[in-house]
Amino acid sequence: MTGTVYLNGDFIDQSLAKVSVFDRGFLFGDAVYEVIPVYQAKAFRLAPHIERLNKSLHAISIWLDYSLAQWQSIIEKIIAVNGAGHQSVYIQVSRGCESKREHVADKRTIPTVLVMSSILDVEIAKLSAIKVTILDDIRWQNCFIKTTSLLGNIMLKQQSAQMGFDEAILHRQGNVTEGTTSNVFIVKNGIIITPKKDQHILAGITRDVIIEIAKNASIKVIEKTVTLEEIAAADEVWLSSSSREISPVTLIDDKIVAQGNIGPVTKQVHQLFQSFKQQLIGV
Ligand code: PDD
Repeated sequence: MTGTVYLNGDFIDQSLAKVSVFDRGFLFGDAVYEVIPVYQAKAFRLAPHIERLNKSLHAISIWLDYSLAQWQSIIEKIIAVNGAGHQSVYIQVSRGCESKREHVADKRTIPTVLVMSSILDVEIAKLSAIKVTILDDIRWQNCFIKTTSLLGNIMLKQQSAQMGFDEAILHRQGNVTEGTTSNVFIVKNGIIITPKKDQHILAGITRDVIIEIAKNASIKVIEKTVTLEEIAAADEVWLSSSSREISPVTLIDDKIVAQGNIGPVTKQVHQLFQSFKQQLIGV
């Protein structure tokens, strides 16, 4: 993380940004977050990110009355003070700090609001192949909430890393949900297929952009249940996220995908994504 952070109304040096050990985010993981890519000082898809943040806040009954304009002004200031180039803005809202550890929250507790930014690796705009494993989705039933309680995701990500993989594709009883930090897409006979949005997956902003630009380019996209058999038989597979954009998968466990190459639809969608960024923000 670089430079200045926003904490509860103040812009301060990161070395001075402190939160109490009694903050419910620290004690219980009672908090939600967002990660927003910033390309040449312009936040990518800000409104949908804030909309998803509000959905997460609403789902766990944290009432915070920051308008989109307020978020925009905080984020613009954080981006400006932390320098040029691409950044990744991190927002975290916890239920707040109380005087003792108590599971039931006091309704009067004031949320803790943190906004900070780090440098976004420009390499993410390049297509680089990754290898993934398939793991049982052991997480809870509310994965549509972007919560900082990421223990399930962390355990699965660590497990995949220990096995020598870059990511894990997760499934519940044979139905693919998402990656530990990403959404999943497959291509079959030129059609893009991705698991439909439900409570078991995070509604990725990158996922939505990909669906939109693919449809605009007359590529057929289907949102539906995706089975492990369909993943195994897919012509192409890729993962999407704000911090990695599009990651083509060329190996799933010991099975080579797309003859070990980056497939034509993946390349086309990646190209569309780069053009979309350029049009929107002049990168
Ligand atoms: N995570 N699913 C999960 C579980 C994720 O953690 C993420 C992204 C996504 C993709 O969402 P989006 O396209 O909006 O980034 C899907 C972020 C980047 C993170 O935790 O750092």
